[in-house]
Amino acid sequence: MSTGRPALEYEATIRGLRARLAEARAAGLTVGFVPTMGFLHAGHCSLVERARAENDVVVVSIFVNPLQFNPGEDLEDYPRDLDRDLETCAKAGADLVFVPDTQEMYPEPVATTVRLGTLADVLCGASRAGHFDGVATVVAKLFSIMGECSAYFGEKDFQQLTIVSRMAADLSLPVRVVGCGTVREPDGLALSSRNAYLSEAERSQAPVLRRALEAGAALVQSGETDPTAVEAEMASVIATAPLAEIDYTAAVPASTLTADGPLRGDVRLLAAVRFGKARLIDNIGCRAG
Ligand code: PAJ
Repeated sequence: MSTGRPALEYEATIRGLRARLAEARAAGLTVGFVPTMGFLHAGHCSLVERARAENDVVVVSIFVNPLQFNPGEDLEDYPRDLDRDLETCAKAGADLVFVPDTQEMYPEPVATTVRLGTLADVLCGASRAGHFDGVATVVAKLFSIMGECSAYFGEKDFQQLTIVSRMAADLSLPVRVVGCGTVREPDGLALSSRNAYLSEAERSQAPVLRRALEAGAALVQSGETDPTAVEAEMASVIATAPLAEIDYTAAVPASTLTADGPLRGDVRLLAAVRFGKARLIDNIGCRAG
């Protein structure tokens, strides 16, 4: 059955992408953008589908950004499957996939990067120094290439979503950043490209992360306002999984992501846990006070 849309197109150069977008804008079309690192799953698809519903033209980028990996992290092993990704993008309703190589994105060693404030030092930033500067730099570059558009990001990476929203506002980038809900497996595990690293035993224990967040949220909803008590509750649930190694559990104000006395208003509970080679993150929102 025809969707009435032309087939998925593929672009590997910045110049080519800009030319296509200029044409679309000249025709008065709105643009939706979904940046990814590929190995796409139903979580990514949900962003593409939302972009499809809200825009005339939908662009997905696939680029495993070396700037956001630290030495010793999984840059070399990061899962890749371009043929399957292109099929997934077509099915989810993308019009154009931007797949630059590293030479195209960084033809010279970068002399200019985005340097973030304290939002990047906490939570995942504390154990992945420089990671969010690397994310912000590539996203700023992608936003500059894309120009005016709506860009769709998952709440699954809540700190990233917060940082990118603030960056777009702080730098007056012509991009509307849209946060989208987390897609999960039936047992609660958030979909992630890194779930591919889990052994069978690790996979069976991984849903503990979601259960810990739910237990934390229930405690907040029952009136607990001490972040340390909520963090300890989440840690105690995670500790029931023998293969889990906690990186952090946190109960913080949703807007600043930094503890500041008793919990009140919009709160975000976040956790990062290692299962063998996989470092998994998840979060949940709740209201305190
Ligand atoms: P990646 O991990 O490929 O994720 C791309 C987008 O998909 C992000 O906005 C992420 O939050 C979203 N996503 C991942 N899992 C999801 C899930 N289970 N449900 C809903 N959305 C989900 O995040 C990155 O790539 C990179 O850091 C990037 C922003 C592309 C910059 O390099």
